[in-house]
Amino acid sequence: MLDGIGSLRSEQWLRDYLSSPNPQAILPSRLKKQYQMPSYARMSDADRAVLVQYMAGLKVKDWYLADTKKAEYEKLTGMEYKK
Ligand code: HEM
Repeated sequence: MLDGIGSLRSEQWLRDYLSSPNPQAILPSRLKKQYQMPSYARMSDADRAVLVQYMAGLKVKDWYLADTKKAEYEKLTGMEYKK
């Protein structure tokens, strides 16, 4: 669910996440390996820059974000979300 990702994550975070050889080191996942976010470390820097720009532009209103953050965090980690 990447709707509003530009409100949830900074441009730098997105760049790091899409550069990491192991994205789960940045965002832990409880999904089985085959369903986890794959590494985009081998993508070209030019492609990554365009993608990061685009995703950083996906913004939503604050009220929507609060609920989304909680739901996404709890779904991904299985842990309770604390502000
Ligand atoms: C260029 C293509 C892709 C982009 C730009 C992208 C972007 C992202 C971003 C920004 C997040 C973090 C969301 C957050 O902060 O909550 C994420 C998470 C995730 N992505 Fe992707 N993604 C891509 C391709 C894929 C593919 C191909 C898969 C599955 C085969 C996938 C599966 C996941 C999963 C499961 C997560 C949650 C974290 C985890 O369980 O590892 N993504 N993705």
